[in-house]
Amino acid sequence: MTSPALAGADAAASALPASGPRTPTAELRQALPLVTVRDLSVAYDTTTVLDGVDLDLFPGEMVALLGASGSGKSTLMRSLTGFAPISAGSVRVAGHDVTNLARGELRTLRSDVGQVFQQFNLIPRLSVLTNVLTGALHGAGPINMIGGFSNAHRRRALELLDRVGIAHKAGAPARSLSGGQQQRVAIARALMQQPKVILADEPVASLDPKLADSVLDLLREIATDDGIPVLVSLHVLPLALAHSDRIIGLRHGRMLVAGATSQLDAAALSPLYDDDEEHDDDAH
Ligand SMILES: Nc1ncnc2c1ncn2[C@@H]1O[C@H](COP(=O)(O)OP(=O)(O)O)[C@@H](O)[C@H]1O
Ligand SMILES: [Mg+2]
Repeated sequence: MTSPALAGADAAASALPASGPRTPTAELRQALPLVTVRDLSVAYDTTTVLDGVDLDLFPGEMVALLGASGSGKSTLMRSLTGFAPISAGSVRVAGHDVTNLARGELRTLRSDVGQVFQQFNLIPRLSVLTNVLTGALHGAGPINMIGGFSNAHRRRALELLDRVGIAHKAGAPARSLSGGQQQRVAIARALMQQPKVILADEPVASLDPKLADSVLDLLREIATDDGIPVLVSLHVLPLALAHSDRIIGLRHGRMLVAGATSQLDAAALSPLYDDDEEHDDDAH
């Protein structure tokens, strides 16, 4: 039941530098996209938060989402799982039409999307293993722990912990782990639900730079080895340039940048962070 990806993950990670050979984007794009967003607008009451956003996510790619605080990154991620008020456009995720879900389909949609958050969102007093196992409850209906988890679930959770490099912590309470380790648990938990897409909203914003690199390496390895597209919001430009295949940049809810990371540099991305016009008027 161990997948080749699981068995080969460590060897592949040590053999390749973070910027090692990658499947060319053009090749990835011969597959069907797992996420298709067209002309998406999201509005809270009368405030438009996203305006005319287009996005495709193809199997195997890691796409960085950049933009100043408040530019709409989290809202875009929330629209993919039916948590944002979509006012126009279309959103398809892993075969689900998010703007037109059938009865009960929201649960399947959310079980198809693995999520990783800035604050890890683990249950602190529960063991690392149990936290990973909760990923298996996703989409299984109301949480029902009475029957416990099957041995197959436990085996898979341990394999995933091994893959993310913290199998030795399986029995420890989640709260006893460092931030970098907790984020690895959260990634294992997301994998436990066998996601078709992974969304990581500022997954390294609470980690120091070295740990940030290693967590992003792990997410990219998952994208590559498992073919799962990863959309990761980041606010540190060099991290996005070092760890993504493509970059999408939002400013005030509009897409200002969209391109292959190899074609972009800090100068091309700087307009995302320019001061607002009203501040520009104050030039002195
Ligand atoms: N539930 C909400 N109600 C009203 N406004 C919201 C809500 N959520 C987000 N916003 C607004 O949407 C804009 C984009 O927010 P967000 O997507 O969180 O940006 P980012 O993740 O890029 O920092 C912000 O101006 C924020 O105030
Ligand atoms: Mg955000």
